[in-house]
Amino acid sequence: MQPSPDGLAQAFIIGERFIGSDQVAMILGDNIFYGQAFTPMLRQAADRKQGATVFAYRVKDPRQFGVIEFDEGGGAVSLEEKPARPKSDYAVTGLYFYDNEVVNIAREIKPSWRGELEITDINRAYLERNLLQVEVLGRGFAWLDTGTFDALIQASQFIETIQNRQGFKIACPEEIAFYMGYISRNGLLKLGEKMQNNEYGKYLLEIAHSRNRPFWGGKTQEGRAQ
Ligand code: G1P
Repeated sequence: MQPSPDGLAQAFIIGERFIGSDQVAMILGDNIFYGQAFTPMLRQAADRKQGATVFAYRVKDPRQFGVIEFDEGGGAVSLEEKPARPKSDYAVTGLYFYDNEVVNIAREIKPSWRGELEITDINRAYLERNLLQVEVLGRGFAWLDTGTFDALIQASQFIETIQNRQGFKIACPEEIAFYMGYISRNGLLKLGEKMQNNEYGKYLLEIAHSRNRPFWGGKTQEGRAQ
C-alpha cells in the first residue's frame, strides 16, 4: 500500500522486501497494452539479467508523459517528465522492467517539483549508465490508458470493437492459463460451469470445448503445441 501519492518510484522502496534479490517489473494499473507479438517482447525483457527495459510509443500530445528522445541511429539520448517542449513524440509507457539495482536507485532519487519520486528519474539513472533498453511499440500497437473518464470510455470502445469482431476476449486470465498449460481443459470447464449463466462463463465453456484453437505459442497441459 502506498499511503500517499508520492510517486511511482516509491513502489521499489515500499516493495523492497517483496522484491528481495529478484529482478522486478511494474505496470501501471490504468495502462492497457494490446498488440501482436507482445508476449515474446515481454519474455525478452524479463530474461534480460542486467539493466532496465522500457517501452516507447508515439502519441499526439507527449506533454502529459515521460518523453524519450532518440538520436539518428535510434539510440535513446534523453528522458524528461512531462516537458513543456517535448523533444520527441515518443512517450514512455507505464510498463517497466528492472534489475535489482532499482531498489538502490529509488532510495537515492529526490522528489521532483511536483513532490513525487519520479519513475523518469530512475529510468534516467539507467540511461546514464548505458543500461536502458528502449523497445518501440509500433503503429500497429494499441497503448491506451483508463485514468480519465474520456480515456476509459475510449479504451472500452476499442476493446468492445475487437472482441465483437473476433469473438475472442482480450486478456481473459482463465483462457490464457489454459493455453499456457497452467490449467487443464477440465479445470477450465469447472471454472466455466460455475459461471455458465453469464456471458463470461459461456465464453470459458466455448474455449474449453473448442478443438479449433488459435495460435498461441505455448503448450497446453495436454502437451499439444499451440
Ligand atoms: C506516469 C509517468 C510517465 C509515464 C506515464 C505513463 O505519469 O510519470 O513518465 O509516461 O505514467 O502512463 P503519471 O501517471 O504520473 O501522470
